[in-house]
Amino acid sequence: MPSSQRQILVTSALPYANGPIHLGHLVEYLQTDIWVRYQKMRGHECWYVCASDAHGTPIMLRAQTEGISAEELISRVHKEHDQDFADFLIEFDNFYTTHSEENRELSSDIYTRLRDADHISRRTITQAYDPEKEMFLPDRFIKGDCPRCGTKDQYGDNCESCGAAYSPTELINAVSVVSGATPVEKESEHLFFKLADFTELLKDWIHAGHLQDSVANKLDEWLEQGLQDWDISRDAPYFGFEIPDAPGKYFYVWLDAPIGYMASFKNLCDKKGLDFDHYWKEDATTELYHFIGKDITNFHCLFWPAELHGAGYRMPTNVFVHGFLTVNGNKMSKSRGTFIMARSYLNHLSPEYLRYYYAAKLGAGVDDIDLNLEDFQARVNSDLVGKVVNIASRCAGFISKKFSGELSSEIHRPELLEKFTDASDSIAEYYESREFGRAIREIMGLADLANQYIDENKPWVLAKEAGREQEVQDVCSMGINLFRLLIIYLKPVLPAMAASAESFLNVPPLLWQDINKSLTSHTINRFKPLMTRIESSAIEAILEESTSTLETENEAEDKTMTEAEITTPLALDPISDEISFDDFVKLDLRIARIARAEHVEGADKLLQLTLDLGGETRNVFAGIKSAYNPEDLEGRLTVMVANLAPRKMRFGISEGMVLAAGPGGSDLFILAPDEGAEPGMRVK
Ligand code: MSP
Ligand code: ZN
Repeated sequence: MPSSQRQILVTSALPYANGPIHLGHLVEYLQTDIWVRYQKMRGHECWYVCASDAHGTPIMLRAQTEGISAEELISRVHKEHDQDFADFLIEFDNFYTTHSEENRELSSDIYTRLRDADHISRRTITQAYDPEKEMFLPDRFIKGDCPRCGTKDQYGDNCESCGAAYSPTELINAVSVVSGATPVEKESEHLFFKLADFTELLKDWIHAGHLQDSVANKLDEWLEQGLQDWDISRDAPYFGFEIPDAPGKYFYVWLDAPIGYMASFKNLCDKKGLDFDHYWKEDATTELYHFIGKDITNFHCLFWPAELHGAGYRMPTNVFVHGFLTVNGNKMSKSRGTFIMARSYLNHLSPEYLRYYYAAKLGAGVDDIDLNLEDFQARVNSDLVGKVVNIASRCAGFISKKFSGELSSEIHRPELLEKFTDASDSIAEYYESREFGRAIREIMGLADLANQYIDENKPWVLAKEAGREQEVQDVCSMGINLFRLLIIYLKPVLPAMAASAESFLNVPPLLWQDINKSLTSHTINRFKPLMTRIESSAIEAILEESTSTLETENEAEDKTMTEAEITTPLALDPISDEISFDDFVKLDLRIARIARAEHVEGADKLLQLTLDLGGETRNVFAGIKSAYNPEDLEGRLTVMVANLAPRKMRFGISEGMVLAAGPGGSDLFILAPDEGAEPGMRVK
């Protein structure tokens, strides 16, 4: 091993195995992947592990509503996540699961060591219990009226209206989200991790220069308030690992989740013959980094280092915290179509556009980052297509046609090439310190210089003049060399484009150290376009695919899944507040004949219906494309809400709504029987 070679273990937070990956998650996985790829290009030994976070109440309940076992659910979601990550070119060395034997053993072992060192206590607590479902209820699974301001339908821990924090037992008219039953209070013995034992250790660790300043400050605040015992057990029924010396009790998901980092690495070690202890023993000299979002800072910067230390393992070298994604300046929102799943994006655009855009926006801080869709399109088109790819496409044709692919034997402007190579240290430093935005800015500055050089030397003019062949070859060869350096610098961000460029340049995979070489008297291959522009229609199609047209404009959906328990399955939502009969009769439900049904250009879910109400026609957009061919609808009858105020949608005004039954997808039913019904008839 060369003495300068580092040995680094890197993790991204483990995604919950009960919902799809969305563009918010990808901030983290792309940030980490870029950093890891950079380290690998530098020739360091760097392992990147992750896993599905497979345990806990939401997963257990989700599986129940789907009528499958928790194991089936997590293995299906694991596959989906794995594919999403692969398609975004996120290259884990191992993507495992917390529901593994390795994790069971490590979790039990760490627990036992903590218990034997007297860091575990037991005491009986009172908690909300669902007497029908016979289970204790996490705060997020209880709803009721806020005890302070009275707002209805608030979760068991805090009020979204007045911000009050309370315990679920204080809620008025509380109901269990799971069964609708009124929760009762019930006692049970719980196990606690005595976090306060580690106060001094954590104080030192926080200020040992590891953490981002804003993170350290936040942690200081928590430390000042005094560390509480941390409840690490949950009573059955619970999907997780049973605690070795506490039958019927399970490790709380956040106990075994970070241990999942170790377990995933252990599994990798077994596959590759690596030395696990070399990375985890107390006095390890290797480096350990966790990339996480700001919402899970306490778990990673308080509980986790304390657990590790308490059980005789090393502590993290650093925890890199990032901010949250907003889209067009707002939280991701289903009704606006900006709650975008990884898959919806991939259905319409190549992953590297987003990789580039996030890189351009990311810094080392915890600030939120905004995906502005117009800016995204403009920036990618102008930087990548207009600047970088353009350099190669302007030079390659001449080299292929006039010089059978051979580059000049000399570098035309060595001082310009040197300017490019000189930038390598600062670009490297930006990657190392996660200042990707600065790296991109510097790289694009170089791309501008390369284009300027080509503009000034005008090979297309020289090519028409007699006796200036050599100059044409020299200028274009110079351009190709500059392009090559830009590709090396961009490779952590754009691995697929770099691979295409390597085959065009006819070189083996580029490493950082290749910056010091240049291509002279070297034969390149024919140039194929490396990247095309982002068309507006692709972005519109993504938004369309992400708009929940079947739901009302429900602003309650208008939040990102930041907390563990927000991922409550929709089907578990309690029935909404009662409405009076008077409210109900306001709905004017009418039979309508579907006079015309058409596809909507650029929309993935919608059909445009022209509905005949027996004299009057209405234009309605309905999210039913997954279930019906337009041809099969024409002439049939349906039931519509005829007095709904018109709504402006992306594709036009919708004047009413059709009623549908069924779970969705292809199982959606909107047709009314033809017998004895006439367009315009009232239904009631
Ligand atoms: N399962 C836990 C992590 C356990 S780690 C031992 C979890 N899972 S998560 O699926 O909710 O989130 C995974 C990561 O994605 C977290 O670091 C989280 O902060 C990050 N993000 C989730 N939504 C995000 C945004 N909207 N924006 C940026 N990052 C986000 O937390
Ligand atoms: Zn309130």
